Amino acid sequence: MYQKLDILITEESIRRRVKELGEKISSDYRGREILAIGILKGAWIFMSDLVRNIKIPVMCDFIGVSSYGDGAVSSERVKLISDIRIPVNGKDVLLIDDIIDTGFSIKFVKYYLESKNPASIKLCVLLDKQSRRKVDIHADYAGFTIPDRFVVGYGLDYAEKYRNLPYIAAVK
Ligand code: IMP
Ligand code: MG
Repeated sequence: MYQKLDILITEESIRRRVKELGEKISSDYRGREILAIGILKGAWIFMSDLVRNIKIPVMCDFIGVSSYGDGAVSSERVKLISDIRIPVNGKDVLLIDDIIDTGFSIKFVKYYLESKNPASIKLCVLLDKQSRRKVDIHADYAGFTIPDRFVVGYGLDYAEKYRNLPYIAAVK
């Protein structure tokens, strides 16, 4: 059974905002190519819509890390569980994730990728839970700033469910 959900961001607002982000990224990187790297599994749906709104050449790859267990509690222990396959060296990397919460997992991935000498690395997230940040990291592109509530949908899960919802909702 599903839990009670409170819709925070509708499908239509997500669609509009993702289009804007795609346009901004396309103009910021004009004349270049992007290596988009999504953090699994949460980034998958956002990334698929975002790259379709980017009008310059994009290569796509994924990296898997684990931080949360099955629940809603953040963890400082981040572990690499599946590596990228496209070499990062000399490329303009756009790191994509669903949400930046404490920042631990994205910081881990960013440091890992920086060690492989990309030409540049920028961060794009759909959601930013700024009030929860514990490490010094900021998103270069962020879709929406949200309050400190546990959210699901559009790639985000609770115990692996709800990723398929087309909107963002808070679990009551
Ligand atoms: P961090 O705390 O910034 O390291 O967040 C790590 C990961 O936790 C994110 O990439 C999400 O996959 C997950 N996460 C953080 N907040 C939420 C939430 O509100 N709903 C679902 N997943 C979340
Ligand atoms: Mg994630």
